[in-house]
Amino acid sequence: MDQNEAKRRAAKVAVAEIQGDMLIGLGTGSTAAIFVDLLIEKVRTENLRVTAVCTSERTAAQAQAGGIQMADFSQHTTLDVTFDGADVVDLTSFALLKGLGGALLREKIVAQASKRLVIMVDPSKVTPRFGGTLPVEIVQFGHRATLARLAQFGQVVIRTGRDSTDTFLTDGGNYIADLTVSSIDNPDDLQTRLKTIAGVIETGLFIRMAKTIIVGEETGPAVYHDPHG
Ligand code: A5P
Repeated sequence: MDQNEAKRRAAKVAVAEIQGDMLIGLGTGSTAAIFVDLLIEKVRTENLRVTAVCTSERTAAQAQAGGIQMADFSQHTTLDVTFDGADVVDLTSFALLKGLGGALLREKIVAQASKRLVIMVDPSKVTPRFGGTLPVEIVQFGHRATLARLAQFGQVVIRTGRDSTDTFLTDGGNYIADLTVSSIDNPDDLQTRLKTIAGVIETGLFIRMAKTIIVGEETGPAVYHDPHG
């Protein structure tokens, strides 16, 4: 299956939700980038007025270049809806793993401020067993001590940048620790325990945040709504 085509199928369904005068959140990653391209096209052809808060400098550059108006997030408490991708989705609990693109903190802040979070994925992101690489954003100060504490939960590595000798830095200037947790049976408990580590800023566990998950299946997009309301 062509994964980009699958992402596009999901993003097309999501972009149909866009209406004029919306304040929207824009996620980060390859699926979010496809969504932003479709959004730019829709806003142009339908002459809509849409204002956006972006979860990364990368997404902001793309959206701005396409003529999407940026909102000053410091002036808003609530967004109408946010559109983002995910790395792993559990269609039963609606829990997500996010952050392989390194934007998890801003993504979570924007998602929490949104009335709805719409997730677009290709089918490879849907797993029968919830788990995988869980990115954890950590402060630089004492990062080895934080990594040692994280190692109780699974194998952990500090994320490197493009040149593998440097350490990846988030837009907020923090490090990312990639924690391998093959099976997450109790996401709430894991989130609580990880957040007790002082050096942990935020994790890529998104629990009870997504309201809609769109999977770009080969046979056509499948739309799932949060069964918990
Ligand atoms: C960015 O930090 C991530 O949370 C992305 O949303 C996630 O990695 C999905 O990315 P792709 O759409 O590129 O798979």
